[in-house]
Amino acid sequence: MPQASNHPFLIEYPYREVVGAYRAGAIRLYCHIRAHILRNRILREVGQYIPFAGRVTELGCGFGLFANCLAKSRSDCVFKGCDLNAGRIQEASNVSKTLGIDNIEFHAGDAVAYVESMEEQDCIYMLDLVHHLPPDQVDRFINTSWKHLKPGGLLVIKDVSNKPYFKMAFTWILDVLMTRGEIPYYRSPEAFIELLSPLGGRIVVHYLDDYLPYPHVMYVVHKPL
Ligand SMILES: C[S@@+](CC[C@H](N)C(=O)[O-])C[C@H]1O[C@@H](n2cnc3c(N)ncnc32)[C@H](O)[C@@H]1O
Repeated sequence: MPQASNHPFLIEYPYREVVGAYRAGAIRLYCHIRAHILRNRILREVGQYIPFAGRVTELGCGFGLFANCLAKSRSDCVFKGCDLNAGRIQEASNVSKTLGIDNIEFHAGDAVAYVESMEEQDCIYMLDLVHHLPPDQVDRFINTSWKHLKPGGLLVIKDVSNKPYFKMAFTWILDVLMTRGEIPYYRSPEAFIELLSPLGGRIVVHYLDDYLPYPHVMYVVHKPL
């Protein structure tokens, strides 16, 4: 059980230290901006669902900014991070080595294939991954992730809603620029609930309202014991 000082809503995630450990200036700048977008307040909202012991995997972990922050704050967890981009994974591993975060390992590869053979997890989370996946693979991907959760485990998905329109348009432009032309596929909360309901777990939806114009929504699915 967490102590009062590291209760999920009181944790100050070590963003400064983690961002400062990226060697390349451009990546440090990107992570600095990303840390501002999903800063302490939003990471606490996500982090309240990440257990303090057990196996935790982030799918689509990018440069490992959040996985490293969460792993550093949870020394009794074993973390894994997976991303398609091998360069990002190399940076993520460099940072964990530099900071001596020894409860995390990173893997370069397609998350859709990765989940097929992963060990059972206590928690699987993904931050802005699902809208980057080919839509026809998402159903199977979510189902397979769910199968690899322990009873009582949690599937946590933070994604971007397609409403309100002006927020979606803002995020769409940034996504297209960042991915050099890939078209993201944003879903409404209704579409996510339709996707997640057949799993048979209890679904909690958080609208992560923010002053920045991002339509963040988090879906948490509790697997029955
Ligand atoms: C918006 S970034 C989010 C990264 C990280 N979760 C964060 O919040 O900073 C989306 C990430 O998904 C990764 N990605 C896209 N398709 C993927 C796939 N099929 N398997 C694994 N990662 C993928 C991209 O390489 C990118 O790093």
